Amino acid sequence: MSAAREVMSSYMNWAKTKSGATYNLATSGMPDVKLLELRVSLDDLEITGGGYGYKPLVERIGARYRVSPESIVTAAGTSFANHLAMAALVNPGDEVLFESPAYEPMLATVRYLGANVKRFARKFEDGFRVSPAEIERCVTPNTRLIVLTNLHNPSGVLTDDATLKQVGEIARRVGARVLVDEVYIETLFESTPRTAFHLGDEFVVTSSLTKAFGLSGLRCGWIFAKAELARQMWLLNDLFAATPVHAGERLSIVALDQIDELAERAKALLDRNRSLLNAFLDTREDLEVVRPEFGTVMFPRVRSGDSGPLCRLLREKYETSVVPGAFFELAAHFRLGIAVATSSLEQGLERLAKALNEIQSP
Ligand SMILES: Cc1ncc(COP(=O)(O)O)c(C=O)c1O
Repeated sequence: MSAAREVMSSYMNWAKTKSGATYNLATSGMPDVKLLELRVSLDDLEITGGGYGYKPLVERIGARYRVSPESIVTAAGTSFANHLAMAALVNPGDEVLFESPAYEPMLATVRYLGANVKRFARKFEDGFRVSPAEIERCVTPNTRLIVLTNLHNPSGVLTDDATLKQVGEIARRVGARVLVDEVYIETLFESTPRTAFHLGDEFVVTSSLTKAFGLSGLRCGWIFAKAELARQMWLLNDLFAATPVHAGERLSIVALDQIDELAERAKALLDRNRSLLNAFLDTREDLEVVRPEFGTVMFPRVRSGDSGPLCRLLREKYETSVVPGAFFELAAHFRLGIAVATSSLEQGLERLAKALNEIQSP
């Protein structure tokens, strides 16, 4: 009998059913933008589109990232972009080299697809950085795909282009591709947003408007891949979603036309909140943390070796939620989000301090 296939994401299920709290620091995306804030008129919408990608949307995305339309596949959020990209790239039994710690739903997806998953470590002691030497050590002639997130979820650490290029060279040598989930890279708020897609033919990239802009509800995601591969993905998509929600495509265009304004707002909030969290961390000797410069999350480690009791106490007594590190395979850590109203972060951190003090001297 073959082993049972992975058919759910424990993290996604927890996030949807158990992560809510008055002070919710378990999130990783900007607070949701309201429809009214988008200055949309009914004339901007229509319900019937069709074909392989709505041209005006594909062109808007292409112009932003300097990618030609033949290399763009739109998808329902980065989640489905990841699923579609990996389904096109991975056959059952293929060897996939996946970062560790990892965003669990993406890992569960590639396991669901029947991949033979191997891992390469991003070590806390090494600042969670991507080490080409470690990838070189783990890669085999059978590796078909190397997967990483940039910024890294859960640590928020940025991988620079020079390092990514080295990963690309390793992949090319064994005939593998590199999938980079860039859903957090927009939190660099660069005037010309970067993408690893331009670093070489072996790169496939996924992203969406979800995290940096508070537009998760639009499900405006995409894949960048070489034209022939992108075409295969569109054809495979006919077996999955077939046709997107056209009103969503139209709304995504409205949102993209206002993206600079949304970015400005997000950057101001994240800068303010990151300073606040850094000041808090300066006061805590019981937490060890790699401090990323960008992004929406940090991933501190408790010295006791298990963040479970802390996460439970925070929820049950202090109405505050963070993500237990066990969801990222590192139980000593917890993920703390800063993309919340500053007052919520302040309140949440006050409660975190109380819970940490209580755990130390109950
Ligand atoms: C690395 C990563 N990829 C994808 C997603 C999901 O993105 P989307 O909401 O666009 O589907 C998340 C959300 O937490 C994520 O952390």
